[in-house]
Amino acid sequence: MCEALPVDINLDSSKYTDDDIVDPWTVTSKSESGVDYDKLIKRFGCSYIDKKLIERMESISGKPVHPMIRRGIFFSHRDLHTLLSMIETGNNFYLYTGRGPSSESMHVGHLVPFIVTKWLQETFDVPLVIQMTDDEKTLWKDLTVEQSMKMARENAKDIIAIGFDVNKTFIFANLDYMGRCSAFYQNVIRIQKCVTFNQVKGIFGFNDSDVIGKIGFPATQAAPAFSTTFPFIFGDDKVPVLIPCAIDQDPYFRMTRDVSPRLGFIKPALIHSCFFPALQGPKTKMSASDVNSAVFLTDTPKQIKNKINKHAFSGGRPTQEEHRKHGGNTDTDVSYQLLRFFLYDDEKLESIRIAYNKGELLSGEIKKIAIETLQPIVANHQAKRKEVTEDILDQYMTPRKLNYEFNVKFKPQ
Ligand code: TRP
Repeated sequence: MCEALPVDINLDSSKYTDDDIVDPWTVTSKSESGVDYDKLIKRFGCSYIDKKLIERMESISGKPVHPMIRRGIFFSHRDLHTLLSMIETGNNFYLYTGRGPSSESMHVGHLVPFIVTKWLQETFDVPLVIQMTDDEKTLWKDLTVEQSMKMARENAKDIIAIGFDVNKTFIFANLDYMGRCSAFYQNVIRIQKCVTFNQVKGIFGFNDSDVIGKIGFPATQAAPAFSTTFPFIFGDDKVPVLIPCAIDQDPYFRMTRDVSPRLGFIKPALIHSCFFPALQGPKTKMSASDVNSAVFLTDTPKQIKNKINKHAFSGGRPTQEEHRKHGGNTDTDVSYQLLRFFLYDDEKLESIRIAYNKGELLSGEIKKIAIETLQPIVANHQAKRKEVTEDILDQYMTPRKLNYEFNVKFKPQ
């Protein structure tokens, strides 16, 4: 049976480096070029997705990795080698990701983990579960249960619009699903029994005046990493999981990984993305609660143009003359950063980088390229989202069997 974790277990700890704050609720850096990911990887104790790992993924899947992996936007992992070895020996896995619905409209940065999740689902042909943490947002933000539940549904439509296969994808909102599936609550309690208040304080920085809902919540985000939370999909099989997420979510899954062996599961594998920069610059991430920091999925082409022209931080020089002479800085230039995420033509991206750094390409010109890249992506998203009716949404959100073939059933030793 499960006991609380030993107190000295290294669940970490300090969420502050000298200049960066990274936790599930805050991401800020004092540096112009943003969070120092080298330090973060060391502090969190995860590993780089290096060239060797990418080659291994490519040789197993038989196709090139997604540009976001190749470009180091997904830069870090836990136990991906272990997962790949399992795949090689005929085992299967499922994918788990999620979204905290804090505003009705999502921004382009929110697409990032879902785009790679979709790529992984298609590449490995595996089932996917997506958690909408409306409970988390009620607890952390000034939102009622009803408001959060509504946002969860609205955001789920945006996620569906990205193009997940309904036969292989289950989307659930905690405030709804917890009442529909007792297996979910049972796993939450199993997890809560393994973690003390001291430990969540250490991991998440909770204190005595935090509401008790926050203290228990991490178990709710951990539970979908255990396949028995979805008996209608996996029966009672213990299926390994891969969790794509932004690196600020890692604390939840450090806790999950520590609990896993005691519940008889192998530890979830993770791949982490870096943050999507705010238009104002890479010191903070794009935020749905700051209208000018983000390009929203509901923005018109004109709004996108105005926002980028007006707000996108430029790594260019103060005058055209200086820019031509000394060149711009693509590390801090937000338009260039947007292109790294969304312009998939490697040669074109590289020629833009070189031209900008040399000063051949001006600030206004790189902004124009960013605008013209994002406008069709957003417009296309809006068209797809329009097709997502309440009926279609209900299909994704109904607990049901998913259509996948696992050739070999995984049995933990
Ligand atoms: N807490 C996440 C957020 O606020 C949502 C989430 C739930 C999630 N489960 C997840 C994100 C799994 C990534 C992976 O956005």
